Amino acid sequence: MNIDVIISADHIKEEYLDDKIVVVIDMLRATSVITTALANGAKEVIPMLTVEEAFNKKKELSEKGLDALLGGERRAIKIEGFDFTNSPLEYTRDQIEGKSIILSTTNGTRAINLSLKASKILIGAMINAKSVIDMINENSSDIVFINSGTNGQFSMDDFICSGYMINLLCENNIHNLSDIAKTAKYIYENNKNIVNFIKEARHYNILKDLNLQDDLEYCCKKDILDIVPVVNKNTGVISVINK
Ligand code: MLT
Repeated sequence: MNIDVIISADHIKEEYLDDKIVVVIDMLRATSVITTALANGAKEVIPMLTVEEAFNKKKELSEKGLDALLGGERRAIKIEGFDFTNSPLEYTRDQIEGKSIILSTTNGTRAINLSLKASKILIGAMINAKSVIDMINENSSDIVFINSGTNGQFSMDDFICSGYMINLLCENNIHNLSDIAKTAKYIYENNKNIVNFIKEARHYNILKDLNLQDDLEYCCKKDILDIVPVVNKNTGVISVINK
């Protein structure tokens, strides 16, 4: 299979996505939140581009008698009127089991919404990387790892996460890697300690300055969850199929 990497949400072009399986990555922290919430029993995660859309979605669901919780961030901080921040550690089973979560984040939910033209959209992070690769290995389609990046720019954290997944994909099979995919794999192979590599990254330090070390430690763990969130192409809603 052909394997490629897109370095930020701003670099997504629809023509790159035709007939591809994409893995959307925002390991700090949106895709770690989505994976954790679904692993802890949330019914679904509904990614919204704007805060206004998130409030409107909540209203729409409540008019149909359906309850939903609001989560996410702007500038990594809780949005006024929301139930949760963008910390994966808040999405505990007792808080969210069986619930729908409406999530709006700066980069992650944007990248997901821009990926809907792909043939299949998976949500990946360090914490569920192996499970994502197991699911990809059941298919033979070309793969694009979409790094959400930070405000349209490259981010070291999403890039090394792609590199880890590409490394796993290439363990037992030969694939055709683009130059950027080869670079991501090379970066991971030479920096297997994720924290050591990303501790200079801009977003890592923003979260550190907000005293979110526990989030950072959690999001950098490899393969602690065995679920793969999948985005429904028609509705954009994210749920789990291999639980
Ligand atoms: C995002 O989607 O931009 C991030 O998840 C930001 C954050 O770490 O809260």
